[in-house]
Amino acid sequence: MGKIAVLHGINLQLLGRREPAVYGRTTLAEIDARLRQMGEAAGVEVYCRQTNYEGEFVEWIAELGTEDFLILNPGAWTHTQHSIYDAIKGTGTPAIEVHLSNIHAREAFRAQSVVAGACAGQICGLGEDSYYLAMNYALKRVRPEQKDGRM
Ligand code: DQA
Repeated sequence: MGKIAVLHGINLQLLGRREPAVYGRTTLAEIDARLRQMGEAAGVEVYCRQTNYEGEFVEWIAELGTEDFLILNPGAWTHTQHSIYDAIKGTGTPAIEVHLSNIHAREAFRAQSVVAGACAGQICGLGEDSYYLAMNYALKRVRPEQKDGRM
């Protein structure tokens, strides 16, 4: 069974005190704790990491395989860094792009994601729930339901 990696990119360590009207007051540690709890309840290995270094971020993606699942919020790299698209394509890891804010309803530069094309889908605009919804999907993908005869 694969594992689920939750990777947060640049500036996301500021959650809780960063523009709370846009990103809410929940800290990254609180979001990660809940995501880990969801994994524990389902018996799936979940780990969460944050970095402000793009090279580190793509190295973490390179550690994953096709049996794993990636939930990523690349922060502002979303809009510019093709290296992240290439990394996801390179490992073939199924992925969901997540954003707390609705990137389609903000400054024009945020409306484009250069990462989305490498992902199964994108969830944005739902605050911290964007992560939890992505986790529900990821858990289904890495832990297919036991066969019960009904198919
Ligand atoms: C973000 C949206 C990005 O545009 C921004 O640069 C971030 C956070 C979000 O989660 O809403 O850093 O990814």
